Amino acid sequence: MELKVIDIMSTQAEIKQQVREFYDQIGWQEVSAGLYQNAHYEDLRPVARDYIHRCHLRINQHIEHGGKYLLDAGSGPIQYPEYLEYSRGYQYRVCADISAVALQEARSRIGDHGLFIVADIANLPFKSDIFEGIVSLHTIHHLPEDEHLQAYRELNRLLAPSSSAVIVNGWPSSTLMRFFNPLIRLSNRGKYYFARLSGRPIKPKGNNSQQNKPRDRKAKGTFTSRHDYQWVEGTVGELMPLEILVWRSVSVRFTRTLIHRWLAGRFWLWLLYGLEERFPYFFGKNGQYPLIVIQKGQLSRSR
Ligand SMILES: C[S@@+](CC[C@H](N)C(=O)[O-])C[C@H]1O[C@@H](n2cnc3c(N)ncnc32)[C@H](O)[C@@H]1O
Repeated sequence: MELKVIDIMSTQAEIKQQVREFYDQIGWQEVSAGLYQNAHYEDLRPVARDYIHRCHLRINQHIEHGGKYLLDAGSGPIQYPEYLEYSRGYQYRVCADISAVALQEARSRIGDHGLFIVADIANLPFKSDIFEGIVSLHTIHHLPEDEHLQAYRELNRLLAPSSSAVIVNGWPSSTLMRFFNPLIRLSNRGKYYFARLSGRPIKPKGNNSQQNKPRDRKAKGTFTSRHDYQWVEGTVGELMPLEILVWRSVSVRFTRTLIHRWLAGRFWLWLLYGLEERFPYFFGKNGQYPLIVIQKGQLSRSR
């Protein structure tokens, strides 16, 4: 029995070590000025820019706009300009991350406005109730599955009474994206045959213009695990008051395949954003990326 516990612990430690190495050596290496390898997982084309910008700023609707300390749990290097807005009214942005490279980069961006600490989101070395705001974006999914709940507990513990934390992670599967899968496959097949007929070189899977660069060949990604809506609503919602709204309902695969300037892509994303604002609970549940708000001291209203 004791041996089994040690086995599990070493697997957890190994997972974290692998994630840390990935971000230190690959994810937070700059591939061009101000752009990290990690940005390959984002759609940075002009046609998607406005939608993605507005989704990033959604976080601001749910956290306090000022205070002494904002915690950014799994801050990375604060890679997009919109991220700076979350802590604009705060005295300090406390960046916690297991990657020292991430924190060095974050320091080069925000200098004295930041406090930087190498720490694990499932065991954060802070006193309870001290953060007036918390954000944690795309980080909990790097933890072994059985530590997710502990991370939610930690964020809730650290929140000052009546304050809010915003957590963003993807669902393992999204009803909305499943609905569009046949269209995505059809579009990819069409592109393939069109390229063959016209004698154009066929791009490898994942139409990322950066993908052929030699340094990216070793970038295979790192460990992730995701819980579904029922788990967050039931298991986490039982322990703390939370709401599940929408951060962004479509995946990067969706936008890269189906959203194009010549197909009025900007308009469709504008419309989608409007619908997400109108029906945040529906898109939070059925879209790709929920925005989970923990409000300390409030009753749960998730649906
Ligand atoms: C996908 S990146 C997201 C970074 C940033 N939040 C963003 O949205 O750009 C995940 C970050 O979480 C950090 N991370 C992974 N596991 C962690 C853990 N157990 N504790 C703290 N940070 C962790 C990684 O080092 C990386 O910087």
